[in-house]
Amino acid sequence: MCWIFAYNWKKDSIPFLVEWLKNLEYRWYDSAWVVWVSENGEVFLEKSIWRVSNLATKVELKKRELKYNVGIAHTRWATHWWVTESNAHPHYSENKRFFVVHNWIIENYKELRKSLEKKYKFYSETDSEVVAKLLEDLYDWNMLSTIHKVTKTIVWAYALAIIDKKNPWVLVWTKLWSPMIIWINDKDIFLASDINALSWVANEFVQMEDNEVVIIENGNFSIFSNLSEVCRDCEKIEKNQKKSEKWKYDTFTEKEIHEIPEVIENVFKGRINFETKSIHNETLEDLNEHDIERIEIIASGSSYFAWQVWTYWFRELAWIPTEVRISNEFLYDTFIPNSKTLYIFMSQSGETADVRECLKMVKSKWCLTFWIVNVVWSTIARMCDMWLFSHAWAEIWVASTKNIIWQLWVLILMALSLWMKRNLQYSRGREIMEELSNLKKIFEKQLEKSKDIKKLAKKYSDVKSLFFLWRNLLYPVASEWSLKLKELSYIHSESYSSWEMKHWPLALVNKDFLCIFLNLKWVFEEKTASNIKEVKARNWIVLWIITKWEDDKELYDDTIEVPEVDKVVTPFVALIPVWLFALHTATELWRDVDKPQNLAKSVTVE
Ligand code: AGP
Ligand code: GLU
Repeated sequence: MCWIFAYNWKKDSIPFLVEWLKNLEYRWYDSAWVVWVSENGEVFLEKSIWRVSNLATKVELKKRELKYNVGIAHTRWATHWWVTESNAHPHYSENKRFFVVHNWIIENYKELRKSLEKKYKFYSETDSEVVAKLLEDLYDWNMLSTIHKVTKTIVWAYALAIIDKKNPWVLVWTKLWSPMIIWINDKDIFLASDINALSWVANEFVQMEDNEVVIIENGNFSIFSNLSEVCRDCEKIEKNQKKSEKWKYDTFTEKEIHEIPEVIENVFKGRINFETKSIHNETLEDLNEHDIERIEIIASGSSYFAWQVWTYWFRELAWIPTEVRISNEFLYDTFIPNSKTLYIFMSQSGETADVRECLKMVKSKWCLTFWIVNVVWSTIARMCDMWLFSHAWAEIWVASTKNIIWQLWVLILMALSLWMKRNLQYSRGREIMEELSNLKKIFEKQLEKSKDIKKLAKKYSDVKSLFFLWRNLLYPVASEWSLKLKELSYIHSESYSSWEMKHWPLALVNKDFLCIFLNLKWVFEEKTASNIKEVKARNWIVLWIITKWEDDKELYDDTIEVPEVDKVVTPFVALIPVWLFALHTATELWRDVDKPQNLAKSVTVE
């Protein structure tokens, strides 16, 4: 949930770390620290709680004469005890020689602390301080063997970055389950626990494996596994990752929504030939070699809703029974492994802890796993048997938008591929691919209507609760809209089937409880129209996402029209208006759209 960033640099490292902290502004966390050590062992320490920009200002204003070439910055997402300066990282040994920052959780910290308290005085309530005390307690004049002993003592997950004041030119780093990347450019070496942190400055990277230790000394790094040095090739990184910069938009999230048409071809590039209406992809060809009788899909949040669309497509298009599971539910349910079931995992970040743990469990039973990720070098992308990348470029901001479109693109690509192998009439496949090739223009037109949706959002921004009512394939779209509205504007909303209106939702609806019906052509539009009449008969407000047609226009208080497309493609055309409505509502309410309260971009702690 938090970031560690560290490096051993030949020049004064403070300006770079401060710049990096400012790039972290979009993440939600509760405190941040930086610690530097100069060549003669002088320590420069600064901390803040809440916004990291406060910390960057404090560091910039602090007077200093020395050059500090080894530094660590850390943003904390508290898992143990309160948000206080004493609980913020780095934590230090009693002799103030070792400084350590830590991601994730030390599960056996209570028993370790109980025994260490006989020798050392603890100043914080966190689990992480135990590591700092262990470094002092187990130190045997050799940092590598000391770290080895410490990591054999603590249980469960961690990424640790350590500075030894007595050896100020050395930086030590190790991990178990928490991601960790060594970033390299021509002259400098960096470490980061986030897979996107430095792709904009580095041109090579090395993904560390669990229980490895990296020691950076004077601009060179060595990797050790069980005390022996290991060699690891650097991987090149394409510099398509642009540092986040706002264009002409009020928020970065809005910018990412407007990127959708610009990069939409990425997903299909080299995979669908729209001229010949054919699919070419080795992974999908391999997948088709497997005898798949059932599909189980595991995801969280918006990725979960993207998968819900998939279940309709797979049942209707490929006649494969498909079930989508919330990752934590799947993880703690009885798992009955099946060799003819394909287990698919979806995650934009490729770091979501509960999804990662599900993948570990499924792999331990030798089941077939498939992964759809957006982050090429994410921890989980390297764990599964097969994968497809969504190539949505870096999705930085907390509310997942453009990546959901890419997830749907990849899903329909898979559905078409499996479908065409099984039973799809070729003509039907060509129709769907034709529709897909038109979506970029549809998205561009929808984005041009952002100002109209902004007016609508302004009109309804004072509602206290909303119902998103759907039928059939529109369930995930309505649920995604409800999720985004809650995530960005903090307004309560529920997504429910309009089939059920008379069973209980009608009891809730009144003039302050807005009903939004998703009523697209080919998705039981007439039945939904009769639900709407029930609501209008009671003079309540109805907002509709509708396919443009003339019937019953007088029923609507307001509408957002979307183009008429093939039923299979309808989820695509209802998403951008939905996101723009949620975004503009949040902006109208002065919410922090890029940094929704209490949320993180990647939930790396269960
Ligand atoms: C979506 O806007 C939220 N930020 C959240 O629900 C997110 O989709 C969820 O945490 C899953 O993230 P992942 O796709 O990186 O696994
Ligand atoms: N468990 C540690 C703490 O609560 C680290 C949490 C994190 O990953 O930020 O301080």
